[in-house]
Parts: sequence; structure tokens; C-alpha cells
Amino acid sequence: MRVVRESRDILSISHLKLAEHRIGVVGRNGSGKSTFARVLCGLIAPDSGTVHVGGTDMIRDRKRAITEIGILFQNPDHQIIFPTVAEEIGFGLAQLGHRKADARTGAQSVLERFGKRHWEDRAIHTLSQGQRHLVCLMAVLVMSPKMIVLDEPFAGLDIPTTAALNRYLAGLDQQIVHITHDPDTLADYDRVLWLEGGLIQMDGPAETVLPAFTQRMEAIDDLSDLTD
Ligand SMILES: Nc1ncnc2c1ncn2[C@@H]1O[C@H](COP(=O)(O)OP(=O)(O)O)[C@@H](O)[C@H]1O
Ligand SMILES: [Mg+2]
Repeated sequence: MRVVRESRDILSISHLKLAEHRIGVVGRNGSGKSTFARVLCGLIAPDSGTVHVGGTDMIRDRKRAITEIGILFQNPDHQIIFPTVAEEIGFGLAQLGHRKADARTGAQSVLERFGKRHWEDRAIHTLSQGQRHLVCLMAVLVMSPKMIVLDEPFAGLDIPTTAALNRYLAGLDQQIVHITHDPDTLADYDRVLWLEGGLIQMDGPAETVLPAFTQRMEAIDDLSDLTD
């Protein structure tokens, strides 16, 4: 699978099948992680090739791919479009053709599940950034996707908030593809992909890939120190 921009391969992966329950993605800035996330979710079409997620061919079965995967971005404000929590969470259901009342019931049940039923009519702008992330997560979960893709969603949040959101994630049945700069978050994951220059540098169990990645990143840090 290739994604070409300005006659350059920004992503080039020969064949990939994502079947593991917890998959991490690491790599430096510009290594192609967000491009990879967007291709998975059907937000951008690759210029060539195939991607399978579980049993679904993400290129040929585009429609199914889009409804089966939810994505969380780094900045919740880039995905929030409604003034209140219940409207935001219910939007996806409404878009699928559910009646307004059913969309609200769906929103209420996911709020209930997270002990946030009292947020229903809250103005989203009165919530903290961590709380807005949680609203985005609930808006994804209400759609019951099979897979959730996280594109560095918790960068910039404090440690307790990140830990709480990671606990929510850990409890989910869904398959998760989690892009992060924090290797510790991925320590228990089944598989980690390391992207470098749009290529898969390494693909394997967390205990193999993460130490290799961390070691390489630290070596780069040493070099930049020497050139100062
Ligand atoms: N629409 C685009 N046009 C041109 N270059 C792009 C476009 N989108 C991404 N790129 C380039 O592709 C590379 C990978 O980007 P990205 O997937 O955002 O990396 P990451 O998320 O790992 O930081 C970067 O060099 C970026 O500048
Ligand atoms: Mg990115």
C-alpha cells in the first residue's frame, strides 16, 4: 500500500494484516503515522495497494471500513462540532439514520457506562481538555466500531488524566491501533509497528520493538548533543 504526495512515497507498506487486539504504532515526527491512521480509517485513499483489518479489505470494502472504525485525534476540538455533550455523542447515530430520540438514548447509555450521565446537557466548552477527549471517545464508542484508531490523542494531557483515559481504553473490547510517543503506554500491547520514513522499520511484539525503538531514539539524541 502506497501513499504518494508531491511525487514522494510518504507511506509504503507492502502488505499488512491487523488482527491483534492491541496494536501500537511508534515513529518520529513525519514518519507517516497519521497518514497510516487516515488510510486505515478510510479518510484518505492509498494511491495503490491493499489494507486488511481483521476480515475487512479496507480499500475494496470502503463503506464498511468507514463505519467499522472510529478515530480519535490529538486535538478533541478538531472533531467536536456540537455545543452540548449529548448532541456530539448522538451525531454519528443520527447520521446513520437513527431517529433523534434514539440518538439521544444511545448517547445516554454510553454516558451512563462512563458514569457521566450528568454531562448530558453540559456545554462542551465548559469541560476540560481531558474531559473533551472522553466525550470524543464516547462519540466513537456509541457507534460500536470494531476498531478504534488513536492518533496521539493524549499528548499534552497531564499524567493522571492520561492514566485515567488509558484505563478506559484498556477496558474496551474493541481492537485498538494506538499511535503514541510514549512507549510505556504500549508495554502490554500484542504488537508494535515502528514506522520510519513511511516504511515499516520493525514489526513485532512490544517487548522486541519498543526497546529497539527507544534505543534508536536515544542514540539520535546523543548525536544531536555532539553536534551542538
Ligand atoms: N497532504 C500532504 N501533502 C504533502 N506532504 C504530506 C501530506 N501529508 C503528509 N505529508 C508528509 O508526509 C510525511 C508523513 O506525515 P505524517 O503521516 O503526518 O507523519 P507523522 O504523523 O508520523 O508525524 C511528512 O513528511 C509530511 O510532511
Ligand atoms: Mg501525526
